[in-house]
Amino acid sequence: QMLKVFVTRRIPQEGMKILQKAGMCNLSVWDSDEPVPRAELLKGVAGAHGLLCLLSDKIDAEVLDAAGPNLKVISTLSVGFDHLAIDEIKKRGIRVGYTPDVLTDATAELTVALLLATARRLPEGVEEVKNGGWSTWKPLWLCGYGLSGSTVGVIGLGRIGLAIARRLKPFGVKRLLYTGRQPKPQAQEVDGEYVPLDTLVRESDFVVVSCSLTPDTQGLCNNNFFSKMKKTSIFINTSRGAVVNQEDLFKALSSGQIAAAGLDVTTPEPLPTNHPLLTLKNCVVLPHIGSATYSTRGIMSELTANNLLTGLTGSEMPSELKL
Ligand code: GLV
Ligand code: GLV
Repeated sequence: QMLKVFVTRRIPQEGMKILQKAGMCNLSVWDSDEPVPRAELLKGVAGAHGLLCLLSDKIDAEVLDAAGPNLKVISTLSVGFDHLAIDEIKKRGIRVGYTPDVLTDATAELTVALLLATARRLPEGVEEVKNGGWSTWKPLWLCGYGLSGSTVGVIGLGRIGLAIARRLKPFGVKRLLYTGRQPKPQAQEVDGEYVPLDTLVRESDFVVVSCSLTPDTQGLCNNNFFSKMKKTSIFINTSRGAVVNQEDLFKALSSGQIAAAGLDVTTPEPLPTNHPLLTLKNCVVLPHIGSATYSTRGIMSELTANNLLTGLTGSEMPSELKL
């Protein structure tokens, strides 16, 4: 008996080949680069045994009900799973696959790139070269902030947070602070000091958010948070947009309460082109490209396909989320 699988987007061919070769799935694909409309998602999952989805698909009780009792596995092409209604999924005995580890290096690299681009004002500089603003070498022009001798604070020293810390340390970072639910033994490798959030925010020259989005971290970076940061400090977020209160961030950036921000994630995504944050020179916004290398996306699609297939056959998944 062929198992029905709904794939909510065109995904890298590496993963599609694995699904096709397995020969056990009746594949139905929303074959587009754009998100599946909600109505098509509800239609597409009906009767499905497996669902391969992306972080842009909200998988809630309505979708699970539309799928019906056949649904055994959800495999998401992401490490984050805040788009999945975990309680509802657990209640129905559905297994979940995701993609930790394989995107850690790419995401850490992107975070370092965004941090440097924001601190050294690269987008502004590029713009000035193009628009004729570059008149001569000027001692006080386009100055920013450097990592050498600085204090970096990482909120959430998980797989990606640690990979970010490892990459930043060789730039001459003096102190590496981190916070989270508990101290981590692996922090030793980067001489990480476990401190309360308050201390981290007050003392860091670079505040890097790398925690997952949970009820505890939603809106964590708000007015109270930004008001404790130094006026010369840089805020970087490559986790999830909803960790930040964007109105409060706008106020902090426009009033000079903090120096600059670099965001790879926003609420909503995409950020509307008329959003106030996009009017600020000291805010660098990227379109959620943390894991976007050819190789990483290929490997993510393979892992997502393998999670789905092993889940469908009832065997151990390469990366199963413990619910
Ligand atoms: C990207 O944000 C992911 O969760 O994989
Ligand atoms: C900069 O190019 C310098 O020579 O200081």
